[in-house]
Amino acid sequence: MAGVEVGQSAAGPSGESVAARKVLELRHIECAYGGLRSVADVSLSVAAGEVVALVGPNGAGKTTLLNAVSGLVAMRGGEVIVDGEDVTGLPAWRRARKGIARSFQLVRLFPDLTVGANVQLGASGKSHPGFIASLLHFPSHQRYRRQTAARALAALESVHLEEKNGDAGSALSHGQGRRVELARALVGEPKILLLDEPTSGLHSGVIKDIVPVVKSAAGRGVGVLLVEHNLKFVGEVAHRVIVLHHGEIIAQGTPTEVMRDARVIEAYLGGAVGIKATDGSGKRAGHTKEAGLAQRH
Ligand SMILES: Nc1ncnc2c1ncn2[C@@H]1O[C@H](COP(=O)(O)OP(=O)(O)OP(=O)(O)O)[C@@H](O)[C@H]1O
Ligand SMILES: [Mg+2]
Repeated sequence: MAGVEVGQSAAGPSGESVAARKVLELRHIECAYGGLRSVADVSLSVAAGEVVALVGPNGAGKTTLLNAVSGLVAMRGGEVIVDGEDVTGLPAWRRARKGIARSFQLVRLFPDLTVGANVQLGASGKSHPGFIASLLHFPSHQRYRRQTAARALAALESVHLEEKNGDAGSALSHGQGRRVELARALVGEPKILLLDEPTSGLHSGVIKDIVPVVKSAAGRGVGVLLVEHNLKFVGEVAHRVIVLHHGEIIAQGTPTEVMRDARVIEAYLGGAVGIKATDGSGKRAGHTKEAGLAQRH
């Protein structure tokens, strides 16, 4: 299916409406690895304050699409628009400065840096006083460092890990690492937050701490595009669900609508059984995904 147009406003899980300003617009995105097309003519948009979940079977192209948006894989075609500005030709670091932040399917932290320093990396570039100022220890640079450290601590507080600020990145559990990644993505005050399986490998007790973090980011006007297999989590945070299959959008709607959609059931299970929404915690990619949509491999 080619384009899917987003409504001017969407009702959230609790019925609230979100703003219509599009912070992310994807037009006809195409990606391929060698001759193999992994994303085919995908168009979608995310409004400020909207949480959109991207779901689909293994290999559907979800991570590739997030990578294309953040500039980590080359696109064969299409346009990426951030808050009205075309960023298609920009490298990843410049897209980040335009307001795109992301977390990864596998946690990526620097083990030898402190947790606080890992989070501060997400703020780099934000109102930076410049290289010369930092080299010469200008007061403006010292002020910047203090402000960045304070912002990082506040971001850690938002994921309830402020007490880990001075610990090494290597000292974190998997669940803590995921939350630190979220803090790092949020500290730069992005316009659009891309999350690749934020609940992956987490048990339900930790997942419940992630829900308010995503909601409060959206509440501050951040648009969130998250890849997720845990439909219970999706049902709690997402205004809208988009289903990707073989690189194409095959359905979209509320979590409930999507779970009932015959094309979605067919894509996941060959139509044999209904889609099961569970919290399914604890399993890793490559096996049945940790959650939600039971999959055919
Ligand atoms: N670096 C790569 N080189 C070649 N092919 C790749 C590469 N990365 C992904 N692919 C292929 O592109 C397609 C889409 O992969 P992608 O990782 O985007 O899927 P996904 O929807 O994120 O899957 P999962 O749910 O397992 O994370 C798959 O067929 C995959 O095998
Ligand atoms: Mg993936």
